[in-house]
Amino acid sequence: MLKDKRLKLAIIVVAMLVLIAILAVGCATTTGGASTADIDKLSKRVTAVEKDTDTQKTKINPGLGTVMIEYGDRMSRAFFGAKAGNWDMVKYQIKEMREIQEVGEIDRPKRATALKNFESKFLDPLDKATAAKNTAQFNSAFASAIDGCNGCHVASSDATFKSFSFIKIQTPKIEPTGGLINYVAK
Ligand code: HEC
Repeated sequence: MLKDKRLKLAIIVVAMLVLIAILAVGCATTTGGASTADIDKLSKRVTAVEKDTDTQKTKINPGLGTVMIEYGDRMSRAFFGAKAGNWDMVKYQIKEMREIQEVGEIDRPKRATALKNFESKFLDPLDKATAAKNTAQFNSAFASAIDGCNGCHVASSDATFKSFSFIKIQTPKIEPTGGLINYVAK
């Protein structure tokens, strides 16, 4: 009798295990086994998203010329900020320069290395002089940075221009906001 009971129990347990195994396999194929049509649809969607991202980067986001207009403008603002001894203004403009250059790095990845090199070689010393509130140190770092701007312009080319040496940066003569910013106020 006892043996019979044990046998029955063993049969039930084995049957349950088989059932669980069947269910598990069934679930695996439903979740993991997407149909070919599903995969096809997803793959087309991925291609479309990639194309959109590419359009965004190359056609919609600001290109390097636009980035450079802001880059140069902020460099001028930093200069006039330093002239007025408004070091927070200078610090802010350099921070914004770093941010806009990132846009250039992302949208124009071929220029990323040159931009990053410029940042560490020229913006870091400008930041240091700013933190030290040292006008002489700032002016010297600023002059070096101008050389750095021009160095990259000379070395850069594209399909139309063999060099951008014709874009020559110099010490700003006129405050870029036309007096809108009162640099002396802190
Ligand atoms: C990656 C190297 C590189 C560095 C570093 C660089 N530039 Fe440029 N700059 C360029 C290129 C390339 C162009 C041309 C933009 C284009 O291809 O549309 C340009 C264009 C410009 C322009 C012309 C924008 C216009 O459309 O009128 C200005 C102004 C400018 N840069 C300022 C600066 C200043 C200021 C610095 C330094 C603080 C600087 N650039 C650093 C590569 C660089």
